[in-house]
Amino acid sequence: MITFNPLATKDVLRVGDLAQHEVLEVLATADRLKRDPSSATNALRGRSVCLLFEKPSLRTRTSFEVGVFRLGGQAVFLDHRDQPLGERESIADYGRNLERWCHAIVARVRRHATVSGLAESASRIPVINALCDMHHPCQALADFQTLVERGFDLRHSRLAWVGDGNNVCHSLMELASIVGCGITVVTPEGHGPDRGVLDTCVARSMRSGARIDVTHDPAAVRGAFAVYADTWISMGQEDSATKRAAFARYRVDRDLMAVAGPDALFMHCLPAHRGEEVTDEVMDSPRSVVFDQAENRLHAQNALLCHLLAASPAAAPGTPRAKAAAGGSAAPAACVP
Ligand code: CP
Ligand code: NVA
Repeated sequence: MITFNPLATKDVLRVGDLAQHEVLEVLATADRLKRDPSSATNALRGRSVCLLFEKPSLRTRTSFEVGVFRLGGQAVFLDHRDQPLGERESIADYGRNLERWCHAIVARVRRHATVSGLAESASRIPVINALCDMHHPCQALADFQTLVERGFDLRHSRLAWVGDGNNVCHSLMELASIVGCGITVVTPEGHGPDRGVLDTCVARSMRSGARIDVTHDPAAVRGAFAVYADTWISMGQEDSATKRAAFARYRVDRDLMAVAGPDALFMHCLPAHRGEEVTDEVMDSPRSVVFDQAENRLHAQNALLCHLLAASPAAAPGTPRAKAAAGGSAAPAACVP
């Protein structure tokens, strides 16, 4: 019998919603679920998880659908790629409907305000951000699971981000600032991370001991445990094609990996644009862990679902913990495998 401690937060809209001990616990559960997939086959029995997508997805949608199935629950896919939320009815009404049927909402949206609006209106059930313009918390959790598997020391190792200061970058920065490791963010001028996210991470790093550097110099990858790349142009920014010229120096190729060091890993959240932010040679090299990252999406997300829904009764979606009651003091929920 496995028990999952409830999280203090109701919603995971960004990595910063989690405390340090919660991040570590989710990562430990993810590792456990990966090693023994049969250990939580009933964790979501009788529960329905709504997967709502305003943007395309391969990894996030598939890993959540397969993941919820593995936990014994039901995934309900709501396709909003052609009709953004808030057009047919208000986001508030939408959330108030969903919480009457479902036990959790997983939402990939264009704007952060949409997912936070959903969390506010569906106040009885957890909402997980599955990517917005500012954050991608599920990706960062899976990435740190991958790093730890490869021997990354959460207190002393350093990750290097190369490219746009985007949603994935923000979530990795938040996670690094919580656990206390190093992160070097290398971006072209004018494409750095959001000032507010950076300031929050720097303030948090005073407590955690994290080291956060932001630079325009690609040579700053030297000595990093892993070099991480993402698309130069994120979903929803397709009209910024002129960005490409600014990023030419920031392609991760054999030479940049050599600067990082002979043992440095290569990471990418995918989808990759081969020949732009990364060369085929690096993507397909033994140092590339991109498909481990993709696999770990499932385990990290399942761990998050198990902890978030630990205190939620299976039969009555309308009655899970209200936000105000979610204080982490509830007894751990037992799950019979
Ligand atoms: N990394 C990631 O979120 O992939 P998808 O866009 O395919 O879901
Ligand atoms: N930064 C990318 C991540 C895709 C998973 C985007 O938002 O399109």
